[in-house]
Amino acid sequence: MSVKNIQQLNPTQNCNKEVQVSALLSQMTLQEKIGQMSQFNSDVEKLETLIKNGGVGSVINEVDLDTINELQRIATQESRLGIPLLIGRDVIHGFNTMFPIPLGQAASWSVDLIETCARIAAIESSNKGINWTFAPMIDISRDPRWGRVAESLGEDPYLCSTLGVAMVKGFQGDNLYDSSSIAACAKHFAGYGASESGRDYNTTNIPENELRNVYLPPFKAAADAGVSTFMASFSDLNGIPVTGNSWLLNDILRKEWQYPGLTVSDWESIPQLVTHGFAVDEKSAAFEACNAGVDMEMASGNYAEHLPSLIQNNKLNLEQIDTMVSRILKLKLDLGLFDKPFTDSTEPKEPLNSFHLSVAKQAAIKSCVLLKNNKQILPLSKAKLTTLAVIGPLADDGYEQLGTWAFDGKANHSITCLNAIEDYVGSSVDVKFAMGMETSRCNNFDGFDEAIQVSLSADVAVLILGEEAILSGEAHCRSNIDLPGCQEQLINAVYETGTPIVLIIMAGRPITLEKVLPKVDAILYAWHPGTMGGPAITELLFGEECPSGKLPVTFPRNVGQIPLYYGQKNTGRPASDATFVDIDNIKVRAPQTSLGMTSTHLDTHFSPLFPFGFGLSYTQFEYRDITVSRREITMDESLKITATIRNVGHFDAEEIVQLYIRDLVGSVTRPVKELKGFKRIYIPAGESETVVFEINIDQLAFYNRQMKLKAEPGLFHAWIGSNSDTELKTELELFEAQDELLTKD
Ligand code: BGC
Repeated sequence: MSVKNIQQLNPTQNCNKEVQVSALLSQMTLQEKIGQMSQFNSDVEKLETLIKNGGVGSVINEVDLDTINELQRIATQESRLGIPLLIGRDVIHGFNTMFPIPLGQAASWSVDLIETCARIAAIESSNKGINWTFAPMIDISRDPRWGRVAESLGEDPYLCSTLGVAMVKGFQGDNLYDSSSIAACAKHFAGYGASESGRDYNTTNIPENELRNVYLPPFKAAADAGVSTFMASFSDLNGIPVTGNSWLLNDILRKEWQYPGLTVSDWESIPQLVTHGFAVDEKSAAFEACNAGVDMEMASGNYAEHLPSLIQNNKLNLEQIDTMVSRILKLKLDLGLFDKPFTDSTEPKEPLNSFHLSVAKQAAIKSCVLLKNNKQILPLSKAKLTTLAVIGPLADDGYEQLGTWAFDGKANHSITCLNAIEDYVGSSVDVKFAMGMETSRCNNFDGFDEAIQVSLSADVAVLILGEEAILSGEAHCRSNIDLPGCQEQLINAVYETGTPIVLIIMAGRPITLEKVLPKVDAILYAWHPGTMGGPAITELLFGEECPSGKLPVTFPRNVGQIPLYYGQKNTGRPASDATFVDIDNIKVRAPQTSLGMTSTHLDTHFSPLFPFGFGLSYTQFEYRDITVSRREITMDESLKITATIRNVGHFDAEEIVQLYIRDLVGSVTRPVKELKGFKRIYIPAGESETVVFEINIDQLAFYNRQMKLKAEPGLFHAWIGSNSDTELKTELELFEAQDELLTKD
């Protein structure tokens, strides 16, 4: 049966896809079914025959449109059943137009903007014949050593769920059938972000309660939002690698969540079950993965090799295989691939058009986080400057500013900070550039003299430092997250000149900045900002735009504090300033009991350097009058929490208003704060806004001791503020039912 045949079989456009899928299944040989379950890396010569024989369901990493069309032609016209191909690619934060890395986008807390970025990425990549991306990565990431924190949406389940859903919507559009829609993939299910010591692919040990309350919510939200596919994580979860973890993939994903979409393995993660020590050989690895419910294998060909005999020997049953194949066929139908397998190459397509670039600039602007602004050195004023020093290995490097997973973005499309600053100030300011260091990680001081010279003659030195793209991302983890190489010494050298320093950081993770903080007057954290990073940063530097990003991850003071996240548990002996003892204040030969006896380190303060949700503005916002519409509610009621925010500074600006709650007593202990809502609002200078959040039972629920999602009666605190360290607080109380409320003393 060919594409044509399937249309004849079901002449109406809205014909039932289940019927179409069964019609196809009934004609497929076992080999063709297993072919659908196999995804291969693009290698046209090898794939041609395989595709003709019905041995390929999907191809990954082909981006040449003519080649893709040719592969689709072979699949639909030369294979027996004419089934089109899924064409997969990691379209992670843009395709040709590169947006900030996902962690940067998360710092914008801008749901609409993030959806638009994903929409544009879908438009650009679908123009090239791609119909499936392996994004969003919604692994909760609480370890900045882990290189893939760059690809994540940060540490918080609520923020990650909300922004992950926005990405899914952007990639998939209103209707998957639309030619500009691509299938999204919720990855890596689940717990990958908890890799021990932040080392990629490492073991994860996550108690079920923690898994359900912290790591799974973004995946559940993506499933509820209709994400087309899920990717099983590489990692070992509590002793059972996810690729062979039937509890996670079958019991939770399929049975509990009723997820209907396709699941794919990660790259070669099926044969890696042998390396994990979970399967004795590749055949048994194929068995474990298939039995656990991995519908499609990525890259390694294990299914193709071993599933036939496993099925013939009744180790796996055909009914199970049919269910798996039907999910793959269903996705192809949803994407409209049977009707339109080819991508039009004649239509004029303009990636990187002015709209795409303007969104990339907006995304970079909104994702930059102002961490320090001593004596309001920022914004700079063109009129007040004569000479500006621009220093650093990342100031004029179009490639590095793109960050990790920038396969299809080109360095020569980027506008760098140096270019943009020169362009902005024109001839009125003398811009002097010195790289200072050849790369962000080099350890020689050869470029320091030039950097010192340009600083000496400048009114202000803008240092553009951080990490090159390759220092974060998959398998690019660090055990020390200070500025790499001799960047700290470079800052010290410029500091000695007495010229004020504005530090711009481009990086794929939080960098530990405690040591350099006193040396610099301002810090603007730009992550890897993408194609339009230069203009975005320039407009922020000169006050054309006002910084508004907020941290989606906690910034530790030093690596020894990790894991450090705002939603920690209270412990039985919580840290406090009253009990904290610093190592320098320990009396000689003091009795040990004098050391505070609370949950602290002796050699660093227990607080983070910058808390989750933190970010300054050029204006100041004053928060006041937090009120609850009613203090007491029962399980089926809701209430409103309100606060007034006044812009008391001189800039019209956007503020991200955050709502946190704490459930004071639970059948399992609850975090000291949990984000439950946020709003990005615009407030002109001198004006106020009243922000209202609605709280209902769903926001108060958590997985209890019996692993049931339920809210528990009792007292809650609620805060509205500008970051997770906010103190503007109110209370509310939840009752099981009305009569309990009435009889309370
Ligand atoms: C990564 C996935 C990615 C896949 C395909 C793997 O190494 O873990 O996130 O989608 O490669 O490139």
